[in-house]
Amino acid sequence: MASQLAGDVARRRTFAIISHPDAGKTTLTEKLLLFGGAIQLAGEVKAKRNRVQSRSDWMKIERERGISVVTSVMTFEYGGNVFNLLDTPGHEDFSDDTYRTLTAVDAAVMVIDAAKGIEPRTLKLFEVCRLRDIPIVTFVNKMDRESRDPFEILDEIEQKLALDTAPVTWPIGRAKTFAGTWNMAAGTVRREDSQIDPVPVNGPESDGVSGLLPENERETFIEEATLAQEACRPFDRQAFLEGHLTPVYFGSALKNYGVRDLIEALGDFAPSPRAQESDKRLIEATEPALTAFVFKIQANMDPNHRDRIAFVRVCSGSLNRGMKAKLVRTGKSMTLSAPQFFFAHQRQLADNAVAGDVVGIPNHGTLRIGDTLTEGEDLLFRGVPNFAPEILRRVRLGDAMKAKKLREALQQMAEEGVVQLFIPEDGSPAIVGVVGALQLDVLKERLKQEYGLPVDFEAARFNVCRWISHEERGQLEAFMQKHRQAIARDLDGDPVFLAENAFSLNYEADRAPGMTFDEIKDYQ
Ligand code: G4P
Repeated sequence: MASQLAGDVARRRTFAIISHPDAGKTTLTEKLLLFGGAIQLAGEVKAKRNRVQSRSDWMKIERERGISVVTSVMTFEYGGNVFNLLDTPGHEDFSDDTYRTLTAVDAAVMVIDAAKGIEPRTLKLFEVCRLRDIPIVTFVNKMDRESRDPFEILDEIEQKLALDTAPVTWPIGRAKTFAGTWNMAAGTVRREDSQIDPVPVNGPESDGVSGLLPENERETFIEEATLAQEACRPFDRQAFLEGHLTPVYFGSALKNYGVRDLIEALGDFAPSPRAQESDKRLIEATEPALTAFVFKIQANMDPNHRDRIAFVRVCSGSLNRGMKAKLVRTGKSMTLSAPQFFFAHQRQLADNAVAGDVVGIPNHGTLRIGDTLTEGEDLLFRGVPNFAPEILRRVRLGDAMKAKKLREALQQMAEEGVVQLFIPEDGSPAIVGVVGALQLDVLKERLKQEYGLPVDFEAARFNVCRWISHEERGQLEAFMQKHRQAIARDLDGDPVFLAENAFSLNYEADRAPGMTFDEIKDYQ
């Protein structure tokens, strides 16, 4: 049994794709699923933009704006490995969702547009990965178009990200003459992804490599490819796993080049599920007892059943259908009667999941973001972050009779992580906080569609919010008493200080030595 579990865990690769919008994340996802046999037809993922049947009405926002709001998970198999690809919203207004998802992966693929190089959002997401020591595989996409010189791209990654690069493949030609990829280390060529097995070749001069190019391009290619092989850093797996070096692959997701190289790289080099830090001890992925944490909640995926799906990352042991697990936050036991796997657009009951797997657990509000599930042990996984919102609003309701319903709806939205909810200590109306303005649109649409509550937002007096604490409880209470009109409680009852602007926040902070004002709070 133990060796079966270890074998199953070793085959898991759980990763996310990070990129700037338009670099090709959706196209690449579609091709990964296609080659992994998870979808029959290319275009299914893409079709999300104009799907006739929406999963629920609020996803209209997604369709109208052509952005992916929802994070979901897709599982596929390739070369004996099981890949769990966690999709993240492309738009920066939903970045808190993306950051939470990155707590549940073991590796990331960074997609770069070959003509544009490192763009702002790539940089930001890369920084989040670096904070968490997530190893990164780089895919330089759109080589079928006019692009930058590959050396220049490598140099930009090294300079802007302070990350060593090791090109594993080298593009044969560019733009119109792009003809495939040469794997420098393995000495093989793959002309396109329909070719499953790469062909062994004898160096860049050989017919199988430069021979694929028009005569007038061959010499330059041979020079460049020889230089790449001799002068670039060789791939070093340890440095990659520690997050100091990224292996680089070139391709075109649209035209089916380099995608198989990428899947194979993930299979060969990306880590299997890693040990996870808890507040008590390090949990090894191959330990027999189940541990797992919730990193995302998605409500009303099926509008006919007001269900909520909690996305759970298994950290150790196995999650079996029908088993009982302890929800450590409450100490109560819950039966996992219908855990689900997701394959592209389909769901399937999950009989058994192991470390690295992500399963959806339907529930009616029992599970919250950051929750830990175990087989009885009292331990908590920390580090699913909560970011201080950058926009604070009061919710104005046309019909005052529905105030209680609104409070309940807001509470549910906050539990899902759609917004943060702050209840002022002085009894004034609740304040909602979001990281990006589009989240307010989602909130408004969902309150209307799902709860029949048409609302508007009005500016709150406050624009900045920080979680406050002090080593001495009395000092914290004194501060809260003194600033009662600027104190609110979050969903967990933790106190926050609200300020009109950064200046007044700093002013008060200077006058309250020993008080901590936090911009990030871990869930729990
Ligand atoms: P995103 O999810 O990162 O935002 O990017 P997405 O895959 O939607 O790709 C953005 C655009 O870039 C799309 O074109 C897509 O077809 C194109 N694209 C993706 N990969 C490649 C590639 O390897 N080569 C080339 N030449 N183009 C690529 P669009 O015109 O914006 O959308 P559509 O009309 O094709 O759907």
